[in-house]
Amino acid sequence: MTEAADLPIGVFDSGVGGLTVLREMRRQLPGESTIYLGDEARMPYGPRPADEIVAFTREALGWFSARDCKLIVLACNTATSVALDVVRDESRVPIIGVVRPGAAAAISASARRSIGVLATTATVRSGAYARALRDLDPLADVIQQACPALVPLVESGKADSAEAEAAVRGYVQPLLTEGGVVQPVVDTLLLGCTHYPLLRGVIERVAGPGVRVVDSAATTALAVREVLLSHRLVRTTGAPGHRVFATGPTDRFRGVARAIFGEDLPAVEQASLG
Ligand code: DGL
Repeated sequence: MTEAADLPIGVFDSGVGGLTVLREMRRQLPGESTIYLGDEARMPYGPRPADEIVAFTREALGWFSARDCKLIVLACNTATSVALDVVRDESRVPIIGVVRPGAAAAISASARRSIGVLATTATVRSGAYARALRDLDPLADVIQQACPALVPLVESGKADSAEAEAAVRGYVQPLLTEGGVVQPVVDTLLLGCTHYPLLRGVIERVAGPGVRVVDSAATTALAVREVLLSHRLVRTTGAPGHRVFATGPTDRFRGVARAIFGEDLPAVEQASLG
């Protein structure tokens, strides 16, 4: 019989961007087996209504339940923000989302506790990051900024383009200017979307040296590590296995995945949801 500790960790994202979280998990937890599912066929989730995001997340959790995972990581900020509170109680497997770890990263980076959250429209609408930040520091100043143009730019391979820089400038500059004077209103920018770490260079350049840019990948991997350690669920035997599944055409997924993960990615297998 398989020991609970030997079971894989499931990682779910609306598409390919959650590989940034998987990459960090594999770095911090090299002994763990993983199963990644990207719902590429229905990406992006960010512009969708809440009930649809909940329904899609539920379907993904159903898919994982047939694969026996010891823990599921919702690597998607939008799914975490909108669906985690609903689906957690329905799932037999424990779930970790990226919002709380992301908020923790921002709070520890921010000296003035003045934090800008860049995220999808659905994440901003849910207010989940603002709540998580104020849970950690009730006096934190939080400005949320929806950035709907950024995911399509990254997906179309334009993360390094002048178009991406202009879009980032449009979203970030209002968080830097007060009363016409250019000085950071926020001292920390939290990248509240799986795709934005791929725009980190542009975002840092636009924000300037006075602003720290953080994301949730490292703190999410740390949260997973802590849960595994405290529940004696760390995998200790044999070599770990990794599988990656995507809905929709796996070719496109593989292309974007290679840009994120380099060559060290298992073959992408086909999955279907819904
Ligand atoms: N994975 C989503 C997130 O982190 C971004 C892509 C999408 O909109 O589906 O919010």
